[in-house]
Order: sequence, then structure tokens, then C-alpha cells
Amino acid sequence: MEAIREQNGCWEDVLILAIESSCDETAAAVVKNGREVLSNVIASQIALHTQFGGVVPEIASRKHMEQINQVIEKALWDAGTDLSDITAVAVTYGPGLVGALLVGVAEAKAIAYGAKKPLVGVHHIEGHVAANFITEYPAEHMDDVRCQTEQEALRPPFVCLIVSGGHSHLVIVRDYGEFEIIGRTRDDAAGEAFDKVARAVGLGYPGGPKVDKAARQGNPHAIEFPRAKVAGAPYDFSFSGLKSAVLNYINHAKMTGEEIHVSDLAASFQNAVVEVLVGHTVQAAKEYGYDKVAIAGGVASNTALREAMKKACQENGLCFHYPPPVFCTDNAAMIGAAAYYEYQKGTRHGWDLNAVPNLKLGER
Ligand code: KG4
Ligand code: ZN
Repeated sequence: MEAIREQNGCWEDVLILAIESSCDETAAAVVKNGREVLSNVIASQIALHTQFGGVVPEIASRKHMEQINQVIEKALWDAGTDLSDITAVAVTYGPGLVGALLVGVAEAKAIAYGAKKPLVGVHHIEGHVAANFITEYPAEHMDDVRCQTEQEALRPPFVCLIVSGGHSHLVIVRDYGEFEIIGRTRDDAAGEAFDKVARAVGLGYPGGPKVDKAARQGNPHAIEFPRAKVAGAPYDFSFSGLKSAVLNYINHAKMTGEEIHVSDLAASFQNAVVEVLVGHTVQAAKEYGYDKVAIAGGVASNTALREAMKKACQENGLCFHYPPPVFCTDNAAMIGAAAYYEYQKGTRHGWDLNAVPNLKLGER
């Protein structure tokens, strides 16, 4: 699988132009052989949506329309490539906001058709997992040097915790693009819980990074919040009870005129989430007999989660892999990494590729 495309008897590099537009980031990247990021351009719409307290789907689609061509041009330019060098065009086709996905899918189809290149549709969550396969990236992304120095290239099988704004899954990655889901959330996704708590406590949107920052000044043991267990499903998650406990705490404080220490509340809430995420993941790795653990999705950039998972893995003799933060939140480099392995397996999509807003993990 690690081999590269053979043409006329010689080995050639596989260069993927990847496009991601499933939510509020318009992104394009050029990725070489699934592991080396030659360029990674992200036009974030966060500032635009902040005034509404969350992503407004129609505004997101319109902004993608406005930005996508420039983002792709920059990705090709930064990589020192043009379309003739590209082996295949990859795009996220689900899950996500339908109007947002359609912009990327239509764009990728037009480029692939015009340049006579194969088209590879990628599952967004498969992309998040594949962020862990990236080993080389431009210097501006070396924001977490530990990732470079401590990690060896990750290869399946391994256990992966996928925690984003819309998903919380615990999976066994059997092979590239082959997943066995062993746990999932019964209600809110982990990122959704961060966003809702941030809003309730007045930290605003996007909640995850704001809670993360506030929590650094707080005491994680200041408030005892519940750690929800799902009866009969040891690897499932449930965050709505925790979210309600935080909301009740805030309401009670308001009614009794008590001051809310935002940083203590953020740290205590975050601690409750992190403890469950780490506990489930390490237990799964041990029970299923895997010695490698990875994390993926926007919440995987959370500092407390990274630290706690690192410590727990060390204590349990597990090898822990985690992408630099810029590859945890939405980006196209991860789509290019996933697309490489799909391309090698022979995955090709036709000109009828459409956006699938509720695409399930493992579905094609
Ligand atoms: O993966 P992602 O960028 O988009 C989805 O596919 O959903 O994840 C976004 C989610 C948001 O809920 C955001 O609040 C959360 O990831 N997030 C974080 C952090 N950075 C982003 N949550 C906790 N701590 C962070 N540092
Ligand atoms: Zn995502």
C-alpha cells in the first residue's frame, strides 16, 4: 500500500490536489504520496460566523463560492506545481453541510474533468483520521515540534478517537480507510458540548479553543461534574448530561447571585470530557490488543486532551500519535492524505459524484 504509482516501468510520485469545504473552512492542499504536505491553504470563515454565534449554512456556501478558486490557486502555487503535475483531484463529499459540500464537489469535478485527471471523493472523517499519516509539512506548520521528533510514521492497525464538532467515534482502523466503530456518542458530539458550554458561559464561538484557553487559568477539580457512562456500551459516549450539569450550575449561580469563575468552570468541564475520552480510548486499546493510539478531529487539538492521552499512553505502554493542531481542525491536507490511500486502492468517482451530507463512516 505504501508503494507509489508505477508508470512505464518506473515509480512515480502521486500528487493529490485536495479540496475541503464541508463546513466553515475553504481549504485546498497538495499532498505527495499521502504523507508529505507540499501546501496547505485554509481560508477560515470563523470571523464571519462569530457574529451569529455559530455557522450559518447559507453564508458558508456563499463564502466558499467566493474563495475557492483563489484558495486552490494558492495551494498549487505554494506547492510549486500546476495542474499538469497533479495525479488526481480529491474532494470531501460528505458528511457536512450540503450547500457547503456542493461547492467543493462541483469545483473538484470541473477541475478533474477539464484537466483529465481522476476524481477521488473522500469521507471527511476518514480525512481526519488520515491527518495522523502526515509526517512532513511546511515549516509554518511546525507549531507542535513534538509531533516531528517523537513520532514514527503511523500505519494501521491502531485505535483512533475521533472527536470533532459533529462526530465522536472510537474506532479500530484495521487498514487504510477500513474502520470498525466500537463506540459512538449517544447525543452531543464532544466538540458540540464544548461549543454549547462556551456559549452558555459567555465565551462565544468557536467554543473549543476558547474553553481550552480559559481552562489553562482554572482549577480542573474546582467543580465536580458527572462522567457519564452508557450502560451496556463501555465505549459509547454521552455528553448531554454533562452539558446540562454545567447549565444547571450556571443557572443556580445566577439565581443565588454567586460569582461564576469562568476559568474554573471551563477547566472542570474540560477535565470531565477529557477523562472520559482518555479512559475509553486506553481501555479499548488494551481490551482489543492494540499498542498504537491516535486522535483526530477538531477536539484533538485540545491541549488538556493531548497531555492526558500522552500520559495515559505512556503509563500503559501504548504508542500515542497526534497530528499538529492545524491538521486536527478542518483542512485539505488530511483529505489529500486519505485520498492517496483511496487512490492506491483503486477508488475513482464518476462525474455524477454528489454531496452526501449524512455519509456514514465506512460507506462509499
Ligand atoms: O474537526 P472540526 O474542525 O470540524 C468538524 O468536522 O466538526 O471540529 C470543530 C470542533 C468545534 O466544535 C470546535 O469547538 C472544536 O472542534 N475544537 C476544540 C478545540 N479546537 C477546536 N475543542 C476543544 N479544544 C480545542 N482546542
Ligand atoms: Zn472536521
